[in-house]
Amino acid sequence: MSSAPIPDDAPRGRLRGRRIAVTGAASGIGRATALLFAQEGASLALLDRDPDGLKETAQETVGSAFEVDITAEDEVAAAAERAAVELGGIDGVVNAAGIMFRGLAADVPAADWRRVLEVNLTGTYLVTRSFLPWLTRETAASVVNIASGQGLLPNSPGYTAYAASKGGIVALTKALAAELAPRIRVNCIAPGMVDTAMADGHRDAAASTYALQRIADPTEIAASLLFLTSTDASYVTGSVLGVDGGRAFH
Ligand SMILES: NC(=O)c1ccc[n+]([C@@H]2O[C@H](COP(=O)([O-])OP(=O)(O)OC[C@H]3O[C@@H](n4cnc5c(N)ncnc54)[C@H](O)[C@@H]3O)[C@@H](O)[C@H]2O)c1
Repeated sequence: MSSAPIPDDAPRGRLRGRRIAVTGAASGIGRATALLFAQEGASLALLDRDPDGLKETAQETVGSAFEVDITAEDEVAAAAERAAVELGGIDGVVNAAGIMFRGLAADVPAADWRRVLEVNLTGTYLVTRSFLPWLTRETAASVVNIASGQGLLPNSPGYTAYAASKGGIVALTKALAAELAPRIRVNCIAPGMVDTAMADGHRDAAASTYALQRIADPTEIAASLLFLTSTDASYVTGSVLGVDGGRAFH
């Protein structure tokens, strides 16, 4: 009887020669993505508002760092332009910057509501829009956004603002995919809880709600972002990939 093949996790140069912008690169999923993409041969433009984390990721990936707030339209446009010049072009964008907000709908201050929508939804849009001039069909351009299980199945009380912002990401992704085809593929992933700073204080209660009985490691999310960014997903656009350990059907 033949045994199961041993998984080969070695880098395979799946992004060799590709120039990718990653937001949220100072921490969590964005950072894990930058590290994986660098291993796979990509040149990176790293965007984040946190200078210390950004510097660390840049050192480990030999990436170009851009300290920006993704809600600041002019800052983002200037960073995109500088990134494209430094890297000699841009072939893909991963929008991983985002914030969490927990609070019951009746109590959420309007300023907090606006901030969550501004960072998670408008910020993702502004970054994508700023990189559009460089994204071409010839280089198999790709944009990948990060929604959330909360954007698909918002059934946990206390997440209304966050869920609305992530539901918006799903719609934004599909609308952009339609508008930018066939030039640029646009997809998003919908993770369940991931072991990053965003999960602080909530890890223990969450595990049992997933079929796989655990929350995700950020490297597992990065792997799905690699798939959608790479030409392995050359026929995938407008899709929402659940990377949620089975939450959606559990
Ligand atoms: N961790 C989870 O459980 C989880 C689950 C589903 C989806 N997500 C999504 O994944 C993405 C990454 O989250 P994470 O878990 O890595 O969180 P994280 O807090 O570890 O990282 C978020 C990064 O985004 C940056 N950022 C936030 N606001 C910014 C702004 N205005 N301008 C520039 N940079 C900004 C932060 O500085 C940070 O480096 C987010 O969109 C989040 O909503 C996370």
